[in-house]
Amino acid sequence: MQAWVIGNWKQNPATNHDVNALLNDLLAVTDAQADTTPVTSRFQLMVAPSCIHLAAVSARLKGSTIQCAAQDISQHSASTGAYTGDCSAQQVADAGATWTILGHSERRQYHKESHDTLIKKLTHAFAKNLGVVFCIGETQTQYDDQQTLNVINDQLSVLKDLLTQQPELLLSLSERLIVAYEPVWAIGTGKVPTVEEVSKTHQYIKQTIASFAKTVDNMTVLYGGSVNASNADSFAADAMIDGALVGGASLKAESFLAIANAFS
Ligand code: G3H
Repeated sequence: MQAWVIGNWKQNPATNHDVNALLNDLLAVTDAQADTTPVTSRFQLMVAPSCIHLAAVSARLKGSTIQCAAQDISQHSASTGAYTGDCSAQQVADAGATWTILGHSERRQYHKESHDTLIKKLTHAFAKNLGVVFCIGETQTQYDDQQTLNVINDQLSVLKDLLTQQPELLLSLSERLIVAYEPVWAIGTGKVPTVEEVSKTHQYIKQTIASFAKTVDNMTVLYGGSVNASNADSFAADAMIDGALVGGASLKAESFLAIANAFS
């Protein structure tokens, strides 16, 4: 299975100038490598810029080995409408995104995204042929209370319920869905779980998905939360960890590509 290394730029960079500088740095390396060792033969790269930069970034990445994702889509099915601040699945696809992140803990926390909201967003994303990077993970309190697997099980019930409603999605689920396990307490904090803990949780995620999606016996599961150039090797060495969803360290080409190389 090819590893995925995904950069979630969140609400960064602040200016078009800085977005272009980051892209220049990324493409200088990946374009050069594409001539000799195709980057995508070793790992798949994806970046998720903010909505305001999505069209420019995806246009710039056209023909490169880096795919482009939105960070979220509207919960409303209509491609257009009176939903101030929203971007529909149709709009992000038209802007050039081929994937979208959904259910990131920052969306769950600051925008109160619920089980039902996420089912709607997954439905709209798949309907517009967007792949989905679906984020799950426990808070510090839940981790301390040893509730990680219960929380994961509850969050994965979104996928179970989606498949009950739309069993036809099963056919292409493993190509169109990536799960990212991100303990909330590890995001942007410099704290990380042990590789053994991540490995066990990933095994649980893969088994749980296989229990209700019988044709999917090895779902791609990424780890996210304070991944950097120094600790990426240890995560990459574990067979249960299929790549990384990277926040802060994806804002510098050097650290993002060092993480990607760890997974090659
Ligand atoms: O989506 C990315 C994650 O939230 C991880 O962020 O690498 O800055 O901890 P971080």
